[in-house]
Amino acid sequence: MKTFTSEHPNLKYVFFGGKGGVGKTVMAGATALWYAKQGKRTLLTSTNPVHSLSSLLDQNVYGKPTSVKGVENLLAYEIDTAQTIERSKNEIREKINWFLKFADIPTKADDFVESATMNPAFEESAMFENMIDLMFQDEYDMYVFDTAPTANARRLLGMSKVYSLWVNKMLKSREEASSLRELLSYSKKKEKDPLMDYLLSFRERMENARKLLTDAEKCAFFFVTLPEALPIAVIKRFRMWFIEFGIPVGGVIVNGVIQKSEGQKDIEFINNRIAMQQEYMKEIEESFKGTIRGVIPLFESDIRGVEKLDRLASVLFNNTKY
Ligand SMILES: Nc1ncnc2c1ncn2[C@@H]1O[C@H](COP(=O)(O)OP(=O)(O)OP(=O)(O)O)[C@@H](O)[C@H]1O
Ligand SMILES: [Mg+2]
Repeated sequence: MKTFTSEHPNLKYVFFGGKGGVGKTVMAGATALWYAKQGKRTLLTSTNPVHSLSSLLDQNVYGKPTSVKGVENLLAYEIDTAQTIERSKNEIREKINWFLKFADIPTKADDFVESATMNPAFEESAMFENMIDLMFQDEYDMYVFDTAPTANARRLLGMSKVYSLWVNKMLKSREEASSLRELLSYSKKKEKDPLMDYLLSFRERMENARKLLTDAEKCAFFFVTLPEALPIAVIKRFRMWFIEFGIPVGGVIVNGVIQKSEGQKDIEFINNRIAMQQEYMKEIEESFKGTIRGVIPLFESDIRGVEKLDRLASVLFNNTKY
């Protein structure tokens, strides 16, 4: 990690993804702590609807950026999805009302709002909006995102492309509709189209988001895995998707490697686990050659609180074996 970060001095947005339970939250926490200690004002934030930063840090960081006790330069923030969803709903209601009035359709917006916001992707898109808002606000030197298990993260990040396609289609049909309207109208005066203005500004926003998310100097997405079959399979697949989207992949962090200390008693169960992990390590080394940014041992207990995170950070940044 240290080599990677020194080769990427302008890095500003760092993401951690991977299968459920592999250590995304602890890696994000340790990385944010490390950057804060380098003197960078850092925001550790979670886009996982199932938050765990408050429990990681043993303090309530829900709903607003909150200074982490005892650490200078570090703030943590669990995005409040309920609030975001409410805000997005209101925005959509406003737009629909506006449109209905504009098009002289005597219907209430509420039914449309319900159908637009009841689908399961809505929470994700609200989360995405919130994430890019944070990125655009540009108030911190460093942003570390603890993302949801990778399927969601990929959708979250790929959303900008989907949005652009959708908005372009909408724009095209708006253009056709308004030229038809002009043709049919007696007065040749060109009317202002508020929906068109909105779509244009939305497209610009998405385009800026895409530019930012594909900027290899500023962004890096790290995959966390265990030396086990399923988490490896997951990141192999998702890594390709990220590459396709043009989202810069920072590399792979292998977590939970069991280490045998000198003089330790031979226990068959542990020996078997170690042998299994060694096999998977070979696979990892072959598949992710040159992009392994850290190999982290399984600690004697779980990783919670600043002290433990500090220990993890020093393994991650100062002790890399690859
Ligand atoms: N190297 C390690 N040694 C010991 N415990 C670890 C290690 N890495 C992670 N843990 C523990 O494993 C559990 C899962 O880690 P974490 O919460 O970071 O995973 P996650 O990928 O964020 O999970 P989720 O998908 O649920 O968000 C936590 O209890 C954490 O403290
Ligand atoms: Mg987590």
